[in-house]
Amino acid sequence: MLILNEVLSWDRSPALLLCKHSICTLGVKDISLRQHCRQKLIDVSMEISFILNRKTVSIDVDENTPLLWVIRDELNLKGTKFGCGKAACGACTVLINGEAIRCCSYPIRLVEGTQVTTIEGLNQNGALHAVQQAWLEEVVPQCGYCQPGFIMAAVALLEKIPEPSDDEIDNEILNLCRCGTYFRMRKAIHRAAALKMESPEPIEKIADGEE
Ligand code: FES
Ligand code: FES
Repeated sequence: MLILNEVLSWDRSPALLLCKHSICTLGVKDISLRQHCRQKLIDVSMEISFILNRKTVSIDVDENTPLLWVIRDELNLKGTKFGCGKAACGACTVLINGEAIRCCSYPIRLVEGTQVTTIEGLNQNGALHAVQQAWLEEVVPQCGYCQPGFIMAAVALLEKIPEPSDDEIDNEILNLCRCGTYFRMRKAIHRAAALKMESPEPIEKIADGEE
């Protein structure tokens, strides 16, 4: 109840977001309060190690914390976005071992030993990934909020289907864009497929410790 009182006095806004910390059932968005509830209730933290954007990271965190909050709050990479928090919109899509994963609903314990790539890790040696290049050429983004998730989903799609048809794009990428940039995204994915044919790069085969 101590926590409940503190949270209610902190913010009664109807826009309050649900806390993604697994042991908090109150719904807070402030990281210090999430850390606070973590300390006050029960210590279920464990050390998790994985490769993030070609570098090994180890972090002591509640094993059920969604990967999204580890990336954004603990590791301070803000490119991966929070949209629905229910694995429905795709704004939080990252690659785990090359597969597109909606990390708002993916517990950090499952990340142990894997290779995670976020939008910040797509370029290599300063060169844009083919999907990023195509996104620029086709001027895809409008407000931009959903775009990192779409780009990561497109990267995964092209690893799986190098030359996808429009139907395959529509069937495989189910992310949501409130600005309605779907048409330009489809064009950009075709363009990225062509760019990758010209100059393929191994997103999933990056060695540990490589820049
Ligand atoms: S925020 Fe993860 S799918 Fe919407
Ligand atoms: S570009 Fe605005 S939500 Fe997709």
